[in-house]
Amino acid sequence: MKTSVSFLVLLLFLDWKWARGINITQMKEECFNKSRSQTDFDSHVWTELRELRDMAIEQKVELRNSNRRMEELEQENMVLRVQVSASENQLKELKSEITNLQDRVATLENQNSDIKTRVISTESAVEELQRENAGRPKVAFTVGLTDNGQIGPFNTEITLKFGKVFTNIGDAYSPTTGIFTAPVKGAYYFRFNAWDARLSNVLGVKLFHNTKTVTYCYDVNDNHGYVNVSNGFVLQLEKGDVIYLVLRSDSAIWDDVNNRTTFSGFLLFTG
Ligand SMILES: *[C@@H]1O[C@H](CO)[C@@H](O)[C@H](O)[C@H]1NC(C)=O
Ligand SMILES: *[C@@H]1O[C@H](CO)[C@@H](O)[C@H](O)[C@H]1NC(C)=O
Ligand SMILES: *[C@@H]1O[C@H](CO)[C@@H](O)[C@H](O)[C@H]1NC(C)=O
Ligand SMILES: *[C@@H]1O[C@H](CO)[C@@H](O)[C@H](O)[C@H]1NC(C)=O
Repeated sequence: MKTSVSFLVLLLFLDWKWARGINITQMKEECFNKSRSQTDFDSHVWTELRELRDMAIEQKVELRNSNRRMEELEQENMVLRVQVSASENQLKELKSEITNLQDRVATLENQNSDIKTRVISTESAVEELQRENAGRPKVAFTVGLTDNGQIGPFNTEITLKFGKVFTNIGDAYSPTTGIFTAPVKGAYYFRFNAWDARLSNVLGVKLFHNTKTVTYCYDVNDNHGYVNVSNGFVLQLEKGDVIYLVLRSDSAIWDDVNNRTTFSGFLLFTG
């Protein structure tokens, strides 16, 4: 009975050794050699059993440690999962931010290209205006009648020749003929001021556009001892049209160093 128990224990032991990859042939030999003496064998078995128990305890401890480690790992794993999920969310947010940025960049690019187009068209409009402006004649004059006092009266109308040139940009006014000739078609502004100092006489001037009067201004010099008339017009002229002032017959006009009697005109715009 004792032998069979010992043998069972031996078998279990062999099986365990085998399971741990021990050389069975060698073990069998060892056991066989040892079992020659029953006492030796028993003591051997007990020793092995003690070893087994110690190992089992060790295994238990190891298992407990492993379990603890596994729990720790599970916890770490959970933490990592949370972190990964947070990272994934951040990544998603970043992706959507990138998409938004890309959209904004695209919008800005479009706006930029619109602005470029507008700048180009503005530049070409400015260039055109500069060309037009460069091509537009500069016309402006102011002239005074004379420094020598009275002119007239005559028994016919005469064209007044304003000989004192203050400005005559473009030379459209001729001081020798007293005639302004429009260099281009356009809107022009003209004004004049006439003065006289003879008592009981009439001051009368007419503004002519080609052969037609634009205005006839006159005043009788009675109590003051001096009279004056003035007027101003914006006139649409064709190129080559003429403008001039005429002194009416039996009328006189005065000018001196005070520049009382003057005639002015300038081009407002062409066309
Ligand atoms: C097992 O032991 C026997 C006897 O000691 C030996 O002849 C054999 O080579 C060993 N086998 C292995 C795989 O080590
Ligand atoms: C078993 O005993 C024999 C004879 O005494 C010996 O030659 C052999 O080496 C022993 N084997 C082991 C594994 O102790
Ligand atoms: C112009 O004539 C008016 C009267 O018609 C007179 O009162 C005024 O003083 C005159 N001005 C000049 C500068 O001679
Ligand atoms: C009249 O015009 C001339 C020429 O520009 C100038 O020298 C003179 O001082 C002017 N007279 C007055 C009173 O301003």
